[in-house]
Amino acid sequence: MAKRRFLVTGALPYSNGKLHVGHVAGAYLPADIFVRYLRARGDEVLFICGSDDHGVPVCLTARQENSTPRQIVERYNTAQHKAFEGIGIHFDLYGSTSSPLHHKMSSDFFLKVHAQGAITKKSSEQLYDAQAGMFLPDRYVKGTCHHCNAPDALGDQCEACGKTIDPLLLRDPVSVISGTRPEIRSTTHWFFQQSLFEERLSEWLEGHAEWRPFVRNFAQGLVKQGLPDRAITRDLDWGVPVPLADDPDASGKVLYVWFDAPIGYVSFTAEWCAQHGMDPDSYADWWRDPECKIIHFIGEDNIVFHAIIWPAMLMAEGTYQLPSNVVANSFLNIQFPNRPVEKISKSRGTAIWIDNYLEDYHPDLLRYYLTAIASETQRTTFSLEEMVTRVNSELVDALGNFIYRTLSFTMRYFDGKVPEKGTPTETDLQHWSEIQALPERLSHEIESFRFRNALAELMSATRASNKYIDTKAPWKQRKEDLAGCATTMYYCIQTTKALAVLMNPFLPFTSEKTLATLGLDPTDLDWDKATDPLPEGAPLQQPEIPFKKMELPEDVTRLSRNE
Ligand code: MF3
Ligand code: ZN
Repeated sequence: MAKRRFLVTGALPYSNGKLHVGHVAGAYLPADIFVRYLRARGDEVLFICGSDDHGVPVCLTARQENSTPRQIVERYNTAQHKAFEGIGIHFDLYGSTSSPLHHKMSSDFFLKVHAQGAITKKSSEQLYDAQAGMFLPDRYVKGTCHHCNAPDALGDQCEACGKTIDPLLLRDPVSVISGTRPEIRSTTHWFFQQSLFEERLSEWLEGHAEWRPFVRNFAQGLVKQGLPDRAITRDLDWGVPVPLADDPDASGKVLYVWFDAPIGYVSFTAEWCAQHGMDPDSYADWWRDPECKIIHFIGEDNIVFHAIIWPAMLMAEGTYQLPSNVVANSFLNIQFPNRPVEKISKSRGTAIWIDNYLEDYHPDLLRYYLTAIASETQRTTFSLEEMVTRVNSELVDALGNFIYRTLSFTMRYFDGKVPEKGTPTETDLQHWSEIQALPERLSHEIESFRFRNALAELMSATRASNKYIDTKAPWKQRKEDLAGCATTMYYCIQTTKALAVLMNPFLPFTSEKTLATLGLDPTDLDWDKATDPLPEGAPLQQPEIPFKKMELPEDVTRLSRNE
């Protein structure tokens, strides 16, 4: 296949907290698998992410900690970046939306959309917390539901009756921030008229039958219902200031965080160009060249923003291309031993943090389990006990064991060199032809964003490889038929090499280690040559056992401690 070009992005995490398994499973691990695969195929990829720094929660955290929003976002940007690296997810750039270039490009983007006539200004009444000195976002006010009289309903949606709440109609409203009763004040905001793009959006979605059905159906359903104007500004002093200097109403207002954040995909591309000594304007090679495919990886709760609002913003801006795919996973629930299935929640203490996990365990184990249970079509559950069982039987006993016994047996009885192929039997050839078919089969699954199936194919080939070695029993052959034994080990080594290349997107650490043991350069992966054989006589290195058995800590809550 000819070399292709991709810009791959992971949803920008809010820099107001640490990363947990749900984040990694939802967007970043699938993105990383895809990127590693493309690179091994020889395609050109830019992989971009960074922190989503603006919004009210950051300001509140800063207030609580007697700190500044800037300090909060810097702390979490650094922590997230480190956690990503630890789990083997390397972005070409991990930016932050509070950077000057991002502010500049977001302002320009807003002005462009404004000039196209897709933004209107309206004034409205809102709840204002006089003590905290700020307008209250819907989720920061609570009171008695105006539909069902349930107490303590939050100002966006009532948990008791499920209906949408109008915060102005809440009875006995209380500010969650100061605990005082808010007053009603009038304020002016700018609204993005998404409805102008309904027709184009529906044509565009129609043309993307290759997307995951639940993502596309959801987006199509929303367009059909009609798209309301969206407020894209807020009364806040942290964010990208509304760049309308001549309009007195703009003072004290910033762009809504969901307006500026996706522009981060563009500004981070420009930032990467600048960091690599290129003209920052060469970001257009990704954003304006239809030969480049833009693919956004996101979690379920981000679909409306990436499949509707952001594409509509891009249509309004007019000079950039639309994403070619928006790949979303559903939510991941969690189950701790002796507990029911729960939602992953920081406040309820049910989040398994990546940094806590990495203190005790190998990153590939988590990558393996999260891919094996990926919520690609529906919600799934991360169960710690199931993780231990699956990791131990599938990774340790099947994959780790095949690699280790192949390499250690060859070291010991064939002088640490790739044995002579000799005259293969029917069994050898049949096994090898299964392995030779593997790259193509995995490619097909990965190119269709079915990473879970791809991993299942890899594991089924691993089981077949164990069966092969068991059937051939080289430990017996060695005594009766040394040449036949060499043939078996020749194919076991070639199988190990193929598996080492093909596991790279999923298990990069183990892949690199195994390749090094085979005397290969792990930075020089070639997917299409995965089954090109290592030459007879090529030297091997002493192997290490790839994985230890996984055991849960006595106190599993240490994985979810937030410190
Ligand atoms: N910060 C958002 C979240 O975690 C995602 C922002 S994605 C972007 O849900 F497109 F806005 F960048
Ligand atoms: Zn209610």
